Amino acid sequence: MKFTVLTLFPEITNAYFASSIMAKALEKGIIQYRAVNIRDFALDKHKTCDDAPYGGGPGMLMLAEPLSRALKSIDTAGSSHVICLTPSGRLFTQKRAQELAVMEEIVLICGRYEGIDQRIIDTYVDEELSIGDYVLSSGEAAALAVVDAIYRLVDWVITPESLTEESFSGGLLEYPQYTRPEIFDTMKVPEVLLSGHHENIRCWRQKKRVEKTLAFRPELLERGLREGLFDAETVKLIEKVREDNERDKGD
Ligand code: ADE
Repeated sequence: MKFTVLTLFPEITNAYFASSIMAKALEKGIIQYRAVNIRDFALDKHKTCDDAPYGGGPGMLMLAEPLSRALKSIDTAGSSHVICLTPSGRLFTQKRAQELAVMEEIVLICGRYEGIDQRIIDTYVDEELSIGDYVLSSGEAAALAVVDAIYRLVDWVITPESLTEESFSGGLLEYPQYTRPEIFDTMKVPEVLLSGHHENIRCWRQKKRVEKTLAFRPELLERGLREGLFDAETVKLIEKVREDNERDKGD
């Protein structure tokens, strides 16, 4: 899987790819990365990459020409998927990360300022993605969030067991985790986790996943139920946790 990032600030994305698991995946050749500095494709001697929007309005837009020249410069052999990061894009999800993890090459355009000229989107962009309902000052942070969510799903980057129990897998958030010491600031690790009883631990964790999802992201539970994502045991658990919550409210 190859990631090509078009940016005005390659030092931001370079730093991320140079660290931790990402750097290891690059070293092993599981993923590839290149940054393309959009400014290198500016037409004038001042290397201008932005201008005011036609029709007026606040802020500046990224110019079409440098972006188009930068996109043409990358030889993708027609097999790449071009993503533009923007708060007005479709919401990026774990499901979309899974779908994108099988692509040969992903090209990410990091917007700055108020966005990019629509003609670039119409001509080159396969998909506009937002990472959430808030506005960042740059597309770089959003591109890195998308890259990070995708590359770790590529085969051989992370052990498959780590992926099966994490948040969103199976439509539920992750259960709480504890490590040494057994007592920290007078707080003790839940007894069941010290019991060595695998089935009890599994049940406790599943209950915690349901409780947390119901508290933080009830819409995920609703969707999971609607789409038949949960096994019979989890459906029962959801009913029980809901009943318990109702009873607690009544008390
Ligand atoms: N650029 C600025 N805000 C963004 C967001 N929420 N998602 C993607 N790109 C962005």
